[in-house]
Amino acid sequence: MGVLSVDLDVSNTVAVLADGTTPPRVVDVDGAATMPSAVFAEDTGVLLVGRDAERKARLDPTRFEPNPKRRIDEPHLALGDQAVPVSEALAAVLRRVLAAVSRQLGGGQPGDARLTHPAQWGPDRCAVLRTAARQAGIVGTVTLVPEPVAAAAHFAALPGRILAPGQAVAVYDLGGGTVDIAVVAADQGGGFRVLAKNGLADLGGVDVDEALLVHVGRQVSHTDPRRWQALLRPTSTAERRARRMLQDDVKAAKEALSRHQRTQVLMPEPFADVHLTRAELEALVRPAMLRGVELMAHTLRTAGLAPQHLAGIALVGGSSRLPLIGGMITQMLGVVPASMDQPEAAVAFGALRVSDRRRGFAARR
Ligand SMILES: Nc1ncnc2c1ncn2[C@@H]1O[C@H](COP(=O)(O)OP(=O)(O)OP(=O)(O)O)[C@@H](O)[C@H]1O
Ligand SMILES: [Mg+2]
Repeated sequence: MGVLSVDLDVSNTVAVLADGTTPPRVVDVDGAATMPSAVFAEDTGVLLVGRDAERKARLDPTRFEPNPKRRIDEPHLALGDQAVPVSEALAAVLRRVLAAVSRQLGGGQPGDARLTHPAQWGPDRCAVLRTAARQAGIVGTVTLVPEPVAAAAHFAALPGRILAPGQAVAVYDLGGGTVDIAVVAADQGGGFRVLAKNGLADLGGVDVDEALLVHVGRQVSHTDPRRWQALLRPTSTAERRARRMLQDDVKAAKEALSRHQRTQVLMPEPFADVHLTRAELEALVRPAMLRGVELMAHTLRTAGLAPQHLAGIALVGGSSRLPLIGGMITQMLGVVPASMDQPEAAVAFGALRVSDRRRGFAARR
């Protein structure tokens, strides 16, 4: 009944289904291609996930965990008065994906599954992911694929791109909370090998959102400094709701600026709406983003590879949609990176092209 690939990442989960008859496609959950990887424990013990969890978090943030994958080394999550095993929290997210897949398959379940994980995860963390897959009810073979290997396989399948044996691709994955960098080589047997990896746990889309929020505050806070402080540090449910709406609007404005040169942030009263340009956003975040691109240059140096000798640079992760990122890489490394149509789904798509073998991972065309 097909193969399901799930990239359960820190901020978002993306699933791609290959049913064997049509080209692999993203599985929409709640009408969207990405689902927040968030969980919320109701007092009945039921775990809500995704957007449902985020909505409930406004009422009781103590029962909410937005990033369960970040807690992979902890045995339990304390959610309100409950101790929820991390594997169970991840399983709840996977179960929600399986429910959406089942609808697409007319009640059936996928036969096998591919689950992706960071390249630096060892056997213990991988075992937690496998447990979560079983707890979620995945019955077929579960294959774990390192995220940059999946991204490299996706790159190799792009029209006009070639990753010949002996060649390497650099993967720049800029997501919600982190940047992950890897150099992945194709070997003679059709497998992939991670030659070098690096990352920054404190650079991602949320930092762009934060910088934009501070910038917006500078434009409007003088109108009513007390109300602005209440927005930043909410104490009541109503204030938390207003803060969440503002955060969502700021994030939406950031994402719009990847498509348009200008946009505006709709502000709650008494503040006036704020007009923003892409140039303003880029000036705000360029210094922070420089750290990531410099780390990429450093990683290539340690792998002993000049940018020009790579088969390419693959830009993946939702924040790689920021035009600034491709521009900075081109400028600093002298190579125009490959952008993806759906960069947040590149890892999930790529994992479908990789098959587990005793050693390494074989690319499948
Ligand atoms: N058009 C866009 N322009 C800029 N950023 C965008 C755009 N679309 C999505 N993003 C950002 O991408 C980020 C999410 O990326 P992704 O789904 O790849 O996260 P993730 O894989 O869970 O990452 P991480 O593990 O780092 O948390 C969010 O910060 C989101 O705002
Ligand atoms: Mg990711």
